[in-house]
Amino acid sequence: NGTRSTNVVWHKSLVEKIDRQELLQQKGCVIWITGLSGSGKSTVACALAGALHARGKLTYILDGDNVRHGLNRDLTFKAEDRAENIRRIGEVAKLFGDAGVICIASVISPYRKDREACRSILPDGDFIEVFMDIPLSVCEARDPKGLYKLARAGKIKGFTGIDDPYEAPLDSEIVLQQGEVCPPPEDMADKVVSYLEAKGY
Ligand code: PPS
Repeated sequence: NGTRSTNVVWHKSLVEKIDRQELLQQKGCVIWITGLSGSGKSTVACALAGALHARGKLTYILDGDNVRHGLNRDLTFKAEDRAENIRRIGEVAKLFGDAGVICIASVISPYRKDREACRSILPDGDFIEVFMDIPLSVCEARDPKGLYKLARAGKIKGFTGIDDPYEAPLDSEIVLQQGEVCPPPEDMADKVVSYLEAKGY
């Protein structure tokens, strides 16, 4: 039909993923960081990129907030637009992974089915979900951008965790939590690095 790409074919390249990985001396993959606003996704993404970079690994961060300034500037926060946001970020992350890059996606991605759809388009094992398991009360107390305050006042409608759902992952590869005090982001990032090392990335 007129709204879909038809009559398109795959082109093979002389240089394949395996060649790029050989060149880069690393395996491309997608680290998908999901969690509530204010749970520390972007902070951990930055710490992780720093830790991997220091080990000579090529990374790239796709941050929900940032991608919504460009590629996804046409999308709102209603469920179908969030789904499209996640689908596009998943497809771009897949391209980065295929390029041999360790792509770190940092997005609320509140719906389980949207996250699972991203997992399903990647090679087995290459989608590594990191759940920022931080209680809403903690995120709201932090309120780094003042958005929870606005949401509670009814000035933002459909805010995740307040009047919009967040479906927590059930079996993430990695769960990051905090106790009485929040561990430094570098410690959280180290857990992800250890996982990657153990899995040969
Ligand atoms: S989603 O749900 O995955 O499509 O969201 P994402 O692309 O990660 O964008 C989240 C950031 O958008 C800001 N923001 C909102 N978040 C949640 N709900 C509503 N209604 C909303 N409106 C704006 C907010 O700054 C989020 O950034 P983080 O870094 O998560 O706090």
